[in-house]
Amino acid sequence: MSKLWGGRFEKETNKLVEKYTASIEFDQRLALEDIEGSLAHVQMLGECKIIPLEDVEKIKSGLLIIKEKVISGNVSFSVENEDIHMNIEKMLIDEIGPVGGKLHTGRSRNDQVATDMHLFLKRKTQEMIDLLQSVQEAILLQAKSHITTILPGYTHLQRAQPISFAHHLMAYFWMLERDKERFTDSIKRTNILPLGAGALAGTTFPIDRTRTAVLLGFEKVYPNSLDAVSDRDFIVEFLSNSSILMMHISRLSEEMIIWSSQEFQFIELDDSFCTGSSIMPQKKNPDVPELLRAKTGRVYGNLFGLLTVLKGLPLAYNKDMQEDKEGMLDTIDTLEGALQLLAPMIETMKVKKDRMNRAVTEDYSNATDIADYLVNKGLPFREAHEVIGKLVLYGIKNKKYLLELTLEEFKEFNSMFEDDVFTVLLPDNVVNARKSEGGTAFSEVEKQILLAEQVIKKSVLI
Ligand code: ARG
Repeated sequence: MSKLWGGRFEKETNKLVEKYTASIEFDQRLALEDIEGSLAHVQMLGECKIIPLEDVEKIKSGLLIIKEKVISGNVSFSVENEDIHMNIEKMLIDEIGPVGGKLHTGRSRNDQVATDMHLFLKRKTQEMIDLLQSVQEAILLQAKSHITTILPGYTHLQRAQPISFAHHLMAYFWMLERDKERFTDSIKRTNILPLGAGALAGTTFPIDRTRTAVLLGFEKVYPNSLDAVSDRDFIVEFLSNSSILMMHISRLSEEMIIWSSQEFQFIELDDSFCTGSSIMPQKKNPDVPELLRAKTGRVYGNLFGLLTVLKGLPLAYNKDMQEDKEGMLDTIDTLEGALQLLAPMIETMKVKKDRMNRAVTEDYSNATDIADYLVNKGLPFREAHEVIGKLVLYGIKNKKYLLELTLEEFKEFNSMFEDDVFTVLLPDNVVNARKSEGGTAFSEVEKQILLAEQVIKKSVLI
């Protein structure tokens, strides 16, 4: 019997089939979780008197030897043994003899693989939350030193109203905070043990699933064995949360690319985060944010890949479900790479404060403020809007920004304008006038940063 399941077969597996159906090439990344699951399972089997304690000890010591070998990279996995579960079981039997065959009592690869995935993703989700926090810290650091740096705020990528650069950056802090919340919440649905569901229907052995759950640090067990082996929602959820996160990263990347262009010159990315051109000596390209933007595609793709795999699958386990791994692993690797780069890239970017401040003196982004000025003098907003619209048109035609007009010119449009209009129009005053809660006034941004610091410190990591 060359295969662990070979008893019922009369012919060898076709080599191409063997290769095509094997998952060992990628699921070997679950080796430590697989061993961890087996250690808990065999302990429970012993406690429930399903297998003798001396066999439990032999199996445990064998598993620990394999664990050491896995950690030191001293194992070779084989396609003949199909997947990580059978590779390790085979190694165990080779290590301690036929008693190793008792490990799989009351268990199936179906509940085993689901357990491995739960253990793995629970760990990785927590790592993702920690990495996200380091990006938030980098954002906070930059924001704190740019509360009074003013730049144009945009809508439709047209200059709209001047804002504090810290305010702009902090928008991303809160997006990432929501991402962290989503990941944290998803742990609830990952923190459930499928083991003990058997192939699909449970097992004839008097197992204690709750004990296994406790040994593995799971909060509870799946109440339905069919659901336990068929559920991949927790992976879909992780991929979905990752997609939203990548969308945020992509938006920030896009801004960094635009801001570092010759046209904007609002920031300069550190040399160590840029690359050059093989032909144009002057080039300094923002390859990292460009790739972050592009890699969003594969993360979305992995989500849709898995949703499509699961769509229409009958209960319970189907081999289709083996396709849940590569996309998940790719998303984890992509996110880890992205978050690890993002934090230092934000931290080291040079903010061109003068250039940003100058930009808001060369536009009409203070127009709303003098509409509000007229409203404060009693004019209905809609009329004030019309007056200022005409005033802006006059300025454009005469090549004058609002601050360059004379009081006489202002008065031609409305007699209520007084000398104080020039104070209202100053960029600092425009920004600081927006004191409404969550607005861009320096005082509000300071409050926001304080809140963010509290949020970060309180952040309870599971
Ligand atoms: N390698 C398989 C997977 O990843 C493990 C479960 C196999 N179960 C089975 N009945 N063939 O899904």
